[in-house]
Amino acid sequence: MLIRNKPSWHISHAEVTPEPVYLARRQFMAGTLATATALMLPASLLAEEKGLRSLSAAPNPDYSTAETKTPFSDVTRYNNFYEFGTGKGDPARYAHEMQVEPWFVSVEGECARPGRYNLADLINEAALEERVYRLRCVEAWSMVIPWVGVPLASLIEKFEPAPSARYVYFETLHDPAQMRGQRGRFSTIEWPYREGLRMDEAVHPLTFVAVGLYGRVLPNQNGAPLRLVVPWKYGFKSIKSIVRIRFQAERPKTTWEQMAPHEYGFYANVNPHVDHPRWSQRRERRLPSGLLSPNWMDTRLFNGYEAEVAHLYAGMNLAEHY
Ligand code: MTE
Repeated sequence: MLIRNKPSWHISHAEVTPEPVYLARRQFMAGTLATATALMLPASLLAEEKGLRSLSAAPNPDYSTAETKTPFSDVTRYNNFYEFGTGKGDPARYAHEMQVEPWFVSVEGECARPGRYNLADLINEAALEERVYRLRCVEAWSMVIPWVGVPLASLIEKFEPAPSARYVYFETLHDPAQMRGQRGRFSTIEWPYREGLRMDEAVHPLTFVAVGLYGRVLPNQNGAPLRLVVPWKYGFKSIKSIVRIRFQAERPKTTWEQMAPHEYGFYANVNPHVDHPRWSQRRERRLPSGLLSPNWMDTRLFNGYEAEVAHLYAGMNLAEHY
């Protein structure tokens, strides 16, 4: 997806990029408002957590941070899911319009077991684990989220990828009837949302497929019924509501890289030393944050997972391969 030569209806880059932090003030206000909104939520909204089916999952302390978790209300009300709108509150407002059961995933490309799989047959609920990961958005906010799911490697092995499959490609549902952000000609994203990983990144033990959070099935706004979670990369790599997985030899074209390649790379590894062209990546605002406690903290290389993943990029110039 390329940014076309600006037609008359073109909306500004600041509106289409996943970074309302474009202006520091706007970013600060957004966080403040999100927190304020969460605090003012009517009881019926907070009851959403109770309405979600619970999942039993064994906590995995080896892959969990002990940092304070971001409250459920922030995790589920301050979202990026452009299929439902570009506002942080749009996904919580509209994602219920998406039907997530039954759900099928098409598996294609260089593997021995391609096919159209029912999600219910792909995920063994007895194998679910809980991992508390940091999530760092490219927009310089972050959260700590208790995900429920399985390692992506355990899913990939079911499909028996061929040695020629050097990359894994993922696609989100494309259904304008259910996803209002995909309707109309004002959207500058070329749907479906697309992401990809190198095979060694995909089978890394930290790479996770989430089907739940906070011990419940995933709320739709967080990418139900299954999404990727790659904790050492900027959040946009963690693609939501996956319907297609393809094994391929060549590096896939991914949504944000195609849209603005000088701003968003294929790798998208969290890196405080490589700034976004329009803002610094040195620090992040950990949610919840508010006027009195904006909760800024230093961003860590690979989002604090350097010991686990730095070897994947040995010898690579991270400023070049951002
Ligand atoms: N996946 C799809 N399909 N569409 C999106 O707009 N946004 C990404 C990522 N996955 C996005 C997506 C971005 S920019 C971030 S930061 C995370 O989802 C946000 O996940 P969360 O809303 O669960 O915090």
